[in-house]
Amino acid sequence: MYGNLSIAEPVRGVEQEDPEKLAEFEERIARGEKIEPHDWMPREYRRQVLRMIEQHAHSEIIGALPEGTWITRAPGFRRKLALMAKVQDEVGHAQLLYSAAETLGKPREQMINDLLSGKAKYSNVFNYPALTWADTAIIAWLIDAGAIINQTLNAKGSYGPYARALERICKEEAFHLKYGYDNVVTLASGTPRQRQMLQEALNRWWKPIMHFFGPPDHMSVHSEKLLRWKVKMASNDEMRQMFLDAYVPKIWELGLTIPDPNLRKNPETGRWEYSDPDWDEFWRVINGNGPCNRERLAVRRMADELGAWVRRALLKPDHRYVEPLF
Ligand code: COA
Repeated sequence: MYGNLSIAEPVRGVEQEDPEKLAEFEERIARGEKIEPHDWMPREYRRQVLRMIEQHAHSEIIGALPEGTWITRAPGFRRKLALMAKVQDEVGHAQLLYSAAETLGKPREQMINDLLSGKAKYSNVFNYPALTWADTAIIAWLIDAGAIINQTLNAKGSYGPYARALERICKEEAFHLKYGYDNVVTLASGTPRQRQMLQEALNRWWKPIMHFFGPPDHMSVHSEKLLRWKVKMASNDEMRQMFLDAYVPKIWELGLTIPDPNLRKNPETGRWEYSDPDWDEFWRVINGNGPCNRERLAVRRMADELGAWVRRALLKPDHRYVEPLF
C-alpha cells in the first residue's frame, strides 16, 4: 500500500505488451535498476514518464515568470543578483528536463508547441501572481521546499535520464530554498509593515501550495501506475504530509499564522488534518482558467516569437553571410 493506494492489482494499459518482456521489465524495476532510453519499456511507461517529465519541464520554464517579474524591482543590488541567478537556474532546469524528455522520442519543438497552444499542463502554482516582494520570498522558500520534497524522492526513480537530471536540479533547488528562507526571515524580523506583507503573501499562497502535490490519492489518476513502476516514489498525500511535517513548525516558529483554522496534527494517527483546499479551484487552474494562465502563455509566445530568428540562424545558416572585415 502507498497511502490509500493499493498496487496489488495488475496495471492497466499494458494488455497489448509481450507478457514475458513485461515481467522482465517489472523485475528490473523491483531490483532497483534504472531503465535507460534504449531499453525495452511498455508503451504506457514511455507515455507516463514522458508526460511527467514534460509537465515538469514546462513548470520550470513558466515558473521563472512570477519571480522574473521582480528582477527589475528587487530591493537592492545583492537581492537582484541572487534573484537573477535563481531565475536563470529555473530556465536551466527546463533545458535539462526537455533533454531528458526527448530521450523518450518527442522532439523539443513539439513539446514547446504543446505548451504554447495550451495543450500541455504545468504546475498549478505558477498561474498565480507574485503581487509583492514577499510573494517572491514565499515562492522561493515554500514552493521550492515542496519541489525538493517531490524531486529528491523522484531522483531515486526508475527512469535513468530523469533521475540524473533531478539529482542536479535538487542541488540547485536546495540553494534556492536557503535564499527564500533568508528573504522570509528578513521580512519576518522587519517592520510591522514587512511582517504584514509576509503574512498576506502566505495567506495568498497557502491554498496553491496545498494543491501543488496533486489531488488527494483517491482522485489521483496516474499514481497507481507511477508508484508501481517507481517513477513516483511517494503518493500525493504522502508528499503533502511530508511537507506539512517539515514546514508547518518552521512557519509557526516565525510567528506567522497559517490560514487554515482546521490545520492540526492528529496525535493518534500522526497525520496532519486540514480543511478542504478547494479542489474545484485546483482543476480550474490546471485546465487553463487560473488567474494568470493566459498571461503566462502570452509571455512565452512573445519570447518564442522574439527568439525565432536566433533558432532560424542556428538551424539554417545563411550562405550569404559575409566574413567580418576585422
Ligand atoms: N499542477 C498541475 N497539474 C497537476 C498537478 C499540479 N500541481 N498535480 C496533478 N496535476 C495533474 C496531473 O498532471 C494529471 O493531469 P493529466 O492526466 O492531464 O496529465 C491530473 O492532475 C491528475 O493528477 P495525478 O494523477 O495525481 O498526477 P501525477 O500522478 O502525475 O502526480 C505530480 C502529479 C505533480 C505529483 C507528478 O506529476 C510529479 O511528481 N511531477 C514531477 C514534478 C513536477 O512536475 N513539479 C512541478 C514544479 S517544480
